[in-house]
Amino acid sequence: MKELNVIILAAGLGKRMNSSLPKVLHSLAGKSLLSHVLDTANLLLPHKICVVYGHGNDAVRNAIVNDGLIWVKQKPQLGTGHALMQALPHLDKKGLTLVLYGDVPLISSETLKELLSDSLKGNLALLTMRADDPTGYGRIVRDTEANNIIAIVEDKDTNKDQQKIKEINTGIMAIPNVNLHEWLPKLQNKNSQKEYYLTDIVAIAAKAGEKIEAAHPSNNWEVLGVNSKVQLAALERTYQRNYAEKLLEQGVTLADPSRTDIRGELNCGRDVEVDINCIFEGEVKLGDEVKIGAHCILKNVEIDAGTTILPFSLIEDAGIGKNCRVGPFSRIRPGTNLADEIHIGNFVEIKKSSINSGSKINHLSYIGDATVGKKVNVGAGTITCNYDGVNKFQTIIEDDVFIGSDTQLIAPVKITSGSTIGAGSTITVDTLPEKLTLSRSKQRSITGWKRPAKK
Ligand code: UD1
Ligand code: CA
Repeated sequence: MKELNVIILAAGLGKRMNSSLPKVLHSLAGKSLLSHVLDTANLLLPHKICVVYGHGNDAVRNAIVNDGLIWVKQKPQLGTGHALMQALPHLDKKGLTLVLYGDVPLISSETLKELLSDSLKGNLALLTMRADDPTGYGRIVRDTEANNIIAIVEDKDTNKDQQKIKEINTGIMAIPNVNLHEWLPKLQNKNSQKEYYLTDIVAIAAKAGEKIEAAHPSNNWEVLGVNSKVQLAALERTYQRNYAEKLLEQGVTLADPSRTDIRGELNCGRDVEVDINCIFEGEVKLGDEVKIGAHCILKNVEIDAGTTILPFSLIEDAGIGKNCRVGPFSRIRPGTNLADEIHIGNFVEIKKSSINSGSKINHLSYIGDATVGKKVNVGAGTITCNYDGVNKFQTIIEDDVFIGSDTQLIAPVKITSGSTIGAGSTITVDTLPEKLTLSRSKQRSITGWKRPAKK
């Protein structure tokens, strides 16, 4: 929206979080509160976004990587109106300004578009809501005849009658910039908190005969703020429940929607099944009929159709092909690519390796910096020794190789196509194709040997 400025108020200390981290940097679903608000604001394609931050909160500024933002320091903090005054020189002369809060992370772009549609007609538009318990909130005061909004009275400044009003100010509002430039300098701090209340512009507007619109959030949780860890945890659950419901509606089977955590984006094909206590981080894409067992963690992973991930597997920055079976207890580390029909079993760790179709690494192995061909069988306990303490080296295992159990492959080394390695070997030299290679000493039994006895 060409005409739109967004101001995000984020100067608060967040004392009740009892944390050294500024409040708006606490994370919800793997992303900071402020980033949630910024991402939503960006969906509106605003001309400018201003973030008002507090003294001592440079950490906030440093934590957010975004070239286009205008950062405005507010020091001291004398109220929400005062916060906007600091940003005023940066605002356009025309168009409108949307006020958002760095600690109100779940506001939706749909609700904001609704609010803006009222404001686009040139009116001051408030996002208001009915609250069963309005304590703590500013009350929306309407005139008795026409029911027009005439003021917002802060909780601490209410009289007995005003305390009973159930329509509350969520804080979010859209203000025509011409008016903002005119009204903000008129604010005074003659109230119980000695603060410059942004909400006082409502009475100024009403006195000037301006029409004041009210829009309402699609869901009440959208406007809930975070002031404590208790509220943060509650909002996290709200977010996760909503995400899980969206997945269920798309046809994903979640064994228990209250025990699925999405900290990023989860894209699923048809008939995907996810068992309990799985965490999905970053961007995860699951193809048709993929099954994820209980207690798996997947971060930035793409898994193709028909693959099953068995319980307690940890997979990060990796691609997995069709009809594979991974786990239980597998660890797939960054830079790994598995082709189709691959079996990775328990206590197998794979790092920065590509493994071609039909290969099996079923038990207790470490495969790192390796290229593994098709139909390779890696025996239990096989290790690529890829590191000499300083440098990393590559292991190449070609097609149709069979590696016996408990083998060490000392990189750089190539196991040539079709070779077989005898169990318990330490391989330091490239092998010959189609041959059996082994490096262990011959078994012998010593006659006349006796177990030591106690003296
Ligand atoms: C504010 C509204 C109130 C509304 C409520 C909704 C005002 C005067 N009151 O009250 O009508 O019902 O929100 O939650 O606006 N902030 C700054 N700089 C400041 C003061 C505040 O950046 O100088 C930020 C805070 O970090 C916070 C937000 O603005 O994120 C709201 O400030 P707060 O003091 O908590 O206002 P409330 O008393 O909750
Ligand atoms: Ca508040």
